[in-house]
Amino acid sequence: MRIDILTLFPEMFGALDHSIIRRARDAGKLEINVVNFREYSKDKHKKADDYSFSGGAGLVLMAQPIVDCVENIDPAHEAHRVFLTPAAPVFTQARAVALSKKPRLLLLCGHYEGVDQRAINLCFDEVLSIGDYVLTGGEIPAMVVVDAVARHVEGVINPESLKSESFSWGVPPHTPPGAKKNSTTEYNVRHGGGVGGNAPQLLEYPQYTRPREFRGIAVPEVLLSGNHGEIDKWKRSASEEITKKYRR
Ligand code: 6GU
Repeated sequence: MRIDILTLFPEMFGALDHSIIRRARDAGKLEINVVNFREYSKDKHKKADDYSFSGGAGLVLMAQPIVDCVENIDPAHEAHRVFLTPAAPVFTQARAVALSKKPRLLLLCGHYEGVDQRAINLCFDEVLSIGDYVLTGGEIPAMVVVDAVARHVEGVINPESLKSESFSWGVPPHTPPGAKKNSTTEYNVRHGGGVGGNAPQLLEYPQYTRPREFRGIAVPEVLLSGNHGEIDKWKRSASEEITKKYRR
């Protein structure tokens, strides 16, 4: 997948030079191209913002540098183009999975008071917010979207990790009656579990590693039992409990 990111602050994207995203880029699974759209300004001082016609102190990003940058980088409109703004539907796991199927994305990061709406209407396919709070710009949201989407691009993370992750997103971890072992996917299809299904989305159960006891606190007994049926039941009920506590 190729992702173009349009921003006035390209240095912020150093966060994408590490860990799993770095490895995916090095392996050629993910190509990330960060562009400063100020370079496309036709103003003699390369100005990219101006006062708002609705008044107030904040500056608004001008349409010209953004539209020229988008048209230069994606002339045939091959990319799915997303504008990051708090005034938009909230980004979800289901949206991350859907976006991961696009061969190319283009993300625009707003800053200051916003972006001239004509640039959005002329060039963009979708608007997304990462949640109901206000940030200083769309750069961190763009990195959130890149990370959440990239995890679902083939070859970026171990498919086993995605499979066990689906356990925490609405898939009962116990083997359903009459089903083959390891039939999580079939179970999802039949019962509407997983992202985008109708089953409730569950948060992930708590994890433990060695030692068996730390500062007098023991790992839950059932996890040491070796009884995978009982362990699966524990995971399911722990997921339900934590979901009830932190959601709805
Ligand atoms: Cl996408 N941008 C900004 N500036 N603030 C946000 C956001 C986006 N999503 C949540 N808060």
